[in-house]
Amino acid sequence: MSQPICVNDFEAWAKNKLTKNAWDYYCGGATEEQTLQDNCAAFKRYRLRPYVLNDVSQVDTSSSVLGDTIPFPVCIASTALNKLAHEGGEIASAKAASSLGSGFMQSTVSTTSIEDIAEATPGSLKWMQLYIFKSQKMSKGIQGVDGSGIKDFATKYIDPALQWKDILWLKSISKLPVVLKEIITAEMAQKAVEHKVDGIVVSNHGARQLDGVPATIDALPEIVKAVNGKCDVFLDGGVRTGTDVLKAVAMGAKAVFVGRPVLWGLAYDGENGVKSVLSILRDEFRMSMQLMGCRSVKGLQEGKNLVVPQTFYPSNL
Ligand SMILES: Cc1cc2nc3c(=O)[nH]c(=O)nc-3n(C[C@H](O)[C@H](O)[C@H](O)COP(=O)(O)O)c2cc1C
Repeated sequence: MSQPICVNDFEAWAKNKLTKNAWDYYCGGATEEQTLQDNCAAFKRYRLRPYVLNDVSQVDTSSSVLGDTIPFPVCIASTALNKLAHEGGEIASAKAASSLGSGFMQSTVSTTSIEDIAEATPGSLKWMQLYIFKSQKMSKGIQGVDGSGIKDFATKYIDPALQWKDILWLKSISKLPVVLKEIITAEMAQKAVEHKVDGIVVSNHGARQLDGVPATIDALPEIVKAVNGKCDVFLDGGVRTGTDVLKAVAMGAKAVFVGRPVLWGLAYDGENGVKSVLSILRDEFRMSMQLMGCRSVKGLQEGKNLVVPQTFYPSNL
């Protein structure tokens, strides 16, 4: 197999290197996988309208994430069980993000402790994804979890009785910013803002939960509109190229998160593989900004009609 040169090339490598169980767990989506296919396909239904001759010799790709500046708007999404992909596991992923100044989101279902990740990547941007447990002690991290399969874990421990008011409880026990993930409608986004969250991740969990929900890039505009600048909006799901990043950012996301591509990079070559995946997205994003005639993320977000649904162009067919 030839060396990977774009993010999707890493997928074929990962398929070759991973055990069948790991591959099936990582690549699968819910039910008929309609949303899984659409997460990627939907990006292709938006078209770019460049504005050239705009001196793009200096391009600033940086963006802000809850007040922190990152050099390019791509971070690592929380994915469970990173050591299934590579023995370096979450530390390899977190180090790759750290070396490029990007952010790393640790999963509740990690194969590495939060303490070990913190020690390996001092001073870098890290978020903790938290499933809320039936036991408040467990959510606060002061009670351990018995080892068990992932399905058992979800049914045994995760709290299905969770309500909006529990966000207020979460905010009351921590000084950390609270970001709500898996917001996919304007109505949910409005509720999240009412509950004073610091950010929203427009996400459908990589299409692994409710099949039939919209692709995240299609849901983004209504959510950005509903939030109206009251908190940061991020997106994950189906991001595979620098132009996907550009589309999401131009449509109002402060940054995007990538899940499966990081697992593929990890399977390919541990920390170096993840670094390659992130670097490709960074370089492609930078180049697409230049080709669009955009000098900054702000310019990208303030530009008019830079990204349009393909229905903007009536088909003659
Ligand atoms: C194998 C796998 C495991 C995941 N585990 C978690 C998890 O533990 N917690 C979580 O919030 N999201 C989890 N996700 C969802 C990701 O955080 C993210 O929303 C999704 O992967 C983004 O889509 P993408 O894979 O197309 O980039 C997982 C996704 C995958 C593919």
